[in-house]
Amino acid sequence: MEKRTISCNIHIAKSLETLDSSDAQLVKAAREALSLSYSPYSNFKVGAAALLEDGTIVKGANQENAAYPMCICAERSVLSITSNSYMGKKVVVMAIVVHNPNQRITVPASPCGACRQVLSETEDRQKTPIRLLLTSDSDETWMIGSAKDLLPLSFNGDLLS
Ligand code: THU
Repeated sequence: MEKRTISCNIHIAKSLETLDSSDAQLVKAAREALSLSYSPYSNFKVGAAALLEDGTIVKGANQENAAYPMCICAERSVLSITSNSYMGKKVVVMAIVVHNPNQRITVPASPCGACRQVLSETEDRQKTPIRLLLTSDSDETWMIGSAKDLLPLSFNGDLLS
């Protein structure tokens, strides 16, 4: 039997000072976006900021609902704002910050499966990768070159219709 291995590279910056200034600015924008979070049920706040190809920064956060499955993640909030208000503009980088006022989080959280799927299709649509910057209460930031790196063997619409 043939064996294939899929791997994912993560680059870790221990502090914001070791990031490019544009990446550090995007992480700050994602941290600001935490204030947009409506998360009374989980207390888990997720802020996201996307850098578009024209330099625009789009911010969004998770929006919860008492009917839990209706919750919208920060990443998909931002992608939805982008495709509705900045149609056709490519997302180059997305920074994602997590925070829980009840406990200090020191490791980054990475996007859930649903967000990985939507990020992956966004990459397919725009034909360029979306670089991810993941961080938490500490400034340690994980950089992943493409959202698809987090979703090997992703599903796509090639065989539909
Ligand atoms: N959440 C996100 O915003 N992004 C993710 O990728 C994972 C989870 C939100 C949804 C919900 O409001 C809270 O985090 C707890 O699941």
